[in-house]
Amino acid sequence: MKFSNAAVAAFAASAMAAPNKKPRQSALACNAPVRLDASTNVFQQYTLHANNFYRAEVEAAAAQISDASLRQQALRVADVGSFLWLDTIKNIEKFEPAVADLPCDEILGLVIYDLPGRDCAAKASNGELKVGEIGRYKSEYIDVIAGLLKANPNSAFALIIEPDSLPNLVTNIDLETCQRSKAGYEEGVAYALKTLNLPNVVMYVDAGHGGWLGWNDNLRPGAQGLARVYKNAGSPSQVRGIATNIAGWNAWDQTPGEFSSHPDAQWNKCQNEKLYVETFGAELRSAGHPNHAIVDTGRNGVTGLREEWGNWCNVNGAGFGVRPTANTGSSLADAFVWGKPGGESDGTSDTSAVRYDSFCGKREAFKPSPEAGQWNQAYFEMLLRNANPRF
Ligand code: GLC
Repeated sequence: MKFSNAAVAAFAASAMAAPNKKPRQSALACNAPVRLDASTNVFQQYTLHANNFYRAEVEAAAAQISDASLRQQALRVADVGSFLWLDTIKNIEKFEPAVADLPCDEILGLVIYDLPGRDCAAKASNGELKVGEIGRYKSEYIDVIAGLLKANPNSAFALIIEPDSLPNLVTNIDLETCQRSKAGYEEGVAYALKTLNLPNVVMYVDAGHGGWLGWNDNLRPGAQGLARVYKNAGSPSQVRGIATNIAGWNAWDQTPGEFSSHPDAQWNKCQNEKLYVETFGAELRSAGHPNHAIVDTGRNGVTGLREEWGNWCNVNGAGFGVRPTANTGSSLADAFVWGKPGGESDGTSDTSAVRYDSFCGKREAFKPSPEAGQWNQAYFEMLLRNANPRF
């Protein structure tokens, strides 16, 4: 429920205790249906919401910090807008509490992430749905989320569609797991784009990052792969473009790029995310896919930590990056966002776990780390200490 008068009164009463949670706009502004124009940058109009799920995680983390000044800094992280991951059918229950305190001038970011055979090229985020369970994906996951979005027509939503899925089909199709997942990914993403194509929603399809589809040989197949699915979905009006660097580590415009001195850099023109957004964006345009981008800057505050560009798991030494903003300095980049909730693990370092992935055992992977999505207090405190800019 949005701001009824009773809710406003409740907010006013709680405002003294918790000034951060005060709605910034009057209840009246929420009384009209939201119509997002995906030919424009909606992040210029709406601020990414600091959802109450991440807020609770961060507040609990802050309470465990004894150093008073670090604790103060930690509490500021609770006010940063970030995306809420609806990563299982069960976790759809996070939706309603998150929308309940959404101010009218803010947009709730949601990650749609539950394809059958999820995370086909890795193990850490293997999902609940098996290859072939596309029927369940549609009826128990996407349709349910669509119902909730429709039930909240006066609220604005930004969706990141299925991290890693279409990029995996471009670069990891030699793996049997990805071959088996392919049909479900393509059908599932098209179904998501079609079904979630609602006036109060804007969508960004995950496009990996510069060190993934940015390789010269991957740019065109990558763009064509995304465009094929988008067209199969009927070219939905609310698709604005792509999400890049989700849960990633790449800097926005570091020059020369972090891996520019590697011998294979000659085969990749996208040595930072800005170059990737521009270069891949041009390919998307030729392929007939919308090409504006949002870029995850949640954990890219420190670079120079990874031995290999492809190392993705719990990078040790990382720091929080630039806070969400629509001031990106690039007409193709709508916003910097926090996609991955910093402090949640990328994957377990327990070598005996079913979802143990060897990337989470690399030299530069933080250990110990819990299962993907679980809170890692020590990692959170590290991100905070290394935050750039500082909190
Ligand atoms: C990983 C996990 C997922 C979690 C997400 C955000 O992808 O697999 O469960 O929600 O990270 O932390």
